[in-house]
Amino acid sequence: MTDPAPSLQLRAMRDDDLDAVLAVQAACYPPAMQEAAAVVLARRRTAPATALVAGDGAGVCAYLFAYPSLRGKATPLGGAFVLPDVPDTLYLHDLAVAPRALGQGLARRLVEHMHGAGAALGLAHAALVSVQDSRGFWEGFGYAAAHADAAALASYPAGALYMTRPLMTK
Ligand SMILES: CC(C)(COP(=O)(O)OP(=O)(O)OC[C@H]1O[C@@H](n2cnc3c(N)ncnc32)[C@H](O)[C@@H]1OP(=O)(O)O)[C@@H](O)C(=O)NCCC(=O)NCCS
Repeated sequence: MTDPAPSLQLRAMRDDDLDAVLAVQAACYPPAMQEAAAVVLARRRTAPATALVAGDGAGVCAYLFAYPSLRGKATPLGGAFVLPDVPDTLYLHDLAVAPRALGQGLARRLVEHMHGAGAALGLAHAALVSVQDSRGFWEGFGYAAAHADAAALASYPAGALYMTRPLMTK
């Protein structure tokens, strides 16, 4: 398959990407959904193997934060990543693509790369909380609505939906 945007490079997130990641967040979410810089940085440090950015000529233009978690557990908005002793689920907490990079297949590349990373970790499921009318987007990746901890979902705006899908593992 032809890479739709080969000039957009994926790589592991670094601490010095923080300002650029926060700029993408600011462009993609309303004020009530902005997560604090300290929380965002702590997530990268807690789960560095599952924090990805994509860059173009102008710098970081997209990111995806994930971490090994448990099926049915949602991360509250603004909450820390807490790694369980025996994870079974790749939890995709935040995917955002800057307006300048939309519609070029970048989110697909990030999500598919992360699914591969989760499968390599031996995680049997993937999960997330869909916000901002993204249900159809996630259904396109095989996610379906599932039951989750209601208290965690209450931190999100109305319409937030917990979704899961199987991950192929060896
Ligand atoms: C949702 C988002 C990540 C999509 O990014 P993108 O780079 O434009 O997506 P892609 O170009 O990789 O598209 C991948 C597929 O999803 C589809 N798609 C994109 N946005 C969609 C949407 N809002 N609803 C349904 N399908 C969508 C595309 O048509 C494409 O389908 P295809 O691969 O079968 O052709 C982006 O709009 C975004 O950052 N939104 C703001 C942050 C946000 O709400 N994130 C989701 C939080 S749960």
